[in-house]
Amino acid sequence: MDCSKQVVNLYDLEGVDMKTCIRNAMIIAVIPLLGVSCKKPVSYSKDIKPILVANCLKCHDGSGEGSSKSGFNVQSYNSVMKGTKYGPVVVPGSCESSTLFRLVAHKADPKIQMPPHHDQALALGRSVPLTPKQIEIIAMWIDQGAKNN
Ligand code: HEC
Repeated sequence: MDCSKQVVNLYDLEGVDMKTCIRNAMIIAVIPLLGVSCKKPVSYSKDIKPILVANCLKCHDGSGEGSSKSGFNVQSYNSVMKGTKYGPVVVPGSCESSTLFRLVAHKADPKIQMPPHHDQALALGRSVPLTPKQIEIIAMWIDQGAKNN
């Protein structure tokens, strides 16, 4: 998201005092919005881990069906970063290149969406999809470097 494109055009207004006053009011109003949409650092332990524990751990705990089939385990940050038996599923800095993001955001093969909420693959629709907010937080975490913070 590009926050530098916030353009406030004050040239149509009359009177210098009024301009200054309105400009200050707008700056004050815009600061908190920027803070939320662009600068908020996502925390692995506070934001990401709870999502993985609630939605993925039952199958990806090192011995469940997800782990035994793919090798992917969400028990620790290191195991998440290690990925599957074929390699990493998180590419720090690029959610679009990250299998983990693509699976939860339904951008991968529809037969392997995560958590599985269809009736085609092994896991047979026993889970609910992540909310758009949860998917966005995962994207932000990856784009911010997938840190262990
Ligand atoms: C109901 C069990 C279940 C749940 C819950 C689940 N998975 Fe899976 N997961 C599987 C199975 C089974 C596979 C093996 C792939 C398949 O469906 O054939 C798998 C595979 C994967 C893979 C590897 C895909 C690949 O390309 O090889 C990733 C990454 C993954 N899951 C991430 C997640 C994430 C993230 C969550 C939570 C948001 C999650 N899974 C929740 C069962 C589950």
